[in-house]
Amino acid sequence: MAREKTIYACTECGASAPKWQGQCPDCGVWNTLVETIAESTPVNKSRFAALSGASRLQTLSEIVANEEDRLPTGIGEFDRALGGGLVSGGVVLLGGDPGIGKSTLLLQALSELSGGRHVLYVSGEESGQQIAMRARRLALDTKQLQLLTEINLEKILALLRLEKPQVAVIDSIQTLWSDQLSSAPGSVAQVRECAAQLTRLAKQTGVTVILVGHVTKDGALAGPRVLEHMVDTVLYFEGDTHSSFRLIRAVKNRYGAVNEIGVFAMTDRGLKGVSNPSAMFLSQHGQEVPGSCVLVTQEGTRPLLVEIQALVDQSHGNPRRLTVGLDAQRLAMLLAVLHRHAGIVCFDQDVFVNAVGGVKISEPAADLSVLLAIVSSLKNKVLPSKLIVFGEVGLAGEIRPAPRGQERLKEAVKLGFTRAMIPEANKPKHPIAGIEVIAVRRVDEAMNRLRELD
Ligand code: TYD
Ligand code: MG
Repeated sequence: MAREKTIYACTECGASAPKWQGQCPDCGVWNTLVETIAESTPVNKSRFAALSGASRLQTLSEIVANEEDRLPTGIGEFDRALGGGLVSGGVVLLGGDPGIGKSTLLLQALSELSGGRHVLYVSGEESGQQIAMRARRLALDTKQLQLLTEINLEKILALLRLEKPQVAVIDSIQTLWSDQLSSAPGSVAQVRECAAQLTRLAKQTGVTVILVGHVTKDGALAGPRVLEHMVDTVLYFEGDTHSSFRLIRAVKNRYGAVNEIGVFAMTDRGLKGVSNPSAMFLSQHGQEVPGSCVLVTQEGTRPLLVEIQALVDQSHGNPRRLTVGLDAQRLAMLLAVLHRHAGIVCFDQDVFVNAVGGVKISEPAADLSVLLAIVSSLKNKVLPSKLIVFGEVGLAGEIRPAPRGQERLKEAVKLGFTRAMIPEANKPKHPIAGIEVIAVRRVDEAMNRLRELD
């Protein structure tokens, strides 16, 4: 028998190289090549035959396209991230760090769905007892919930074809192995093969498949590019394991909007949806303190109020710039703009900036609030009370508009804020009751207006 040949496969893009090297020859990412067994030509080439449809040309208008029927999971925040619910034959990838709550959420969702629907939970990670214990602790109704503990792909596929559940959860894709391949479960080749076969089954039979995927320490799913293009929807579970808040973010969705988020709190009774998430990202200190500024950020269609905190302190040595939940490069840029266009210097100061509640903010509309928090801390002066801020800051010191300004203002009013410093271009045409708008065009103007306010 021929000896098994080892090759090196990239955990990012799945490309392979005959020898180990520091950089992937295909995607160029460093330190991603891992040793695996070279897969000989697949044993059964015709296994992909069923993937191709009838080769007949059609015009798009001939094809009858029904609006997909949505199957709500009964967990409102999960449905929101999914774009309204599950879709028959759709494949969802739910990624996240170990212990963040993927299994808990899907067990809760399946329990809700199992009333009246045929659902199946396939676990390759936990034993039946462990899952049953968790379900009991969560007081879930599991009478109709079917469980399979199995990691062999072919057995799972056969069972799914036989049982034809409406929804099947695979927890997790990294534990499955196909006997068509000789590499170990969790390897790039296995993950890719198992996901491809399950996707094919979903498309053929209309079973909705939810795949659980673990995220590696640098924040990517094992074989992420490979999996992300195969599935219809990619959801990421985010959150700080030290706090109980969890976000589910849609990063790809063929059936809905991306960047839509669902917000949860992890309690001793499992994950609970949070319908008013803004309140949770505002820190609960009783009185106003210097260095704190409230930002209205936009996540998908949802405005969120988040407190931005800055600490500016005399530096001893190389000044440090550190951010939590915000882009560190952007902080350096903002400090340069502050110096150049408002004459405020921080070169001898350490600057730390934090978004409260473990939320990650990537939109540039946070810029102005970061600057205001920094200035407030530097001058040791609290910002005016009940003030919210948003707006992007450009290199020329200009303040640019943020998308969906009106909605942001309305959310602020809802939470009792009475003043808003926002870009001139976002100024509402008709005043919004309950909020005074301070529209600014430039950074220096913003600083001057700040001095005028009490
Ligand atoms: P789990 O769903 O097992 O995470 P994943 O499948 O993403 O790895 O979540 C486990 C964590 O959640 C664990 O640290 C305990 C916590 N937890 C609660 O706080 N309350 C609960 O009711 C449950 C079921 C779990
Ligand atoms: Mg799990």
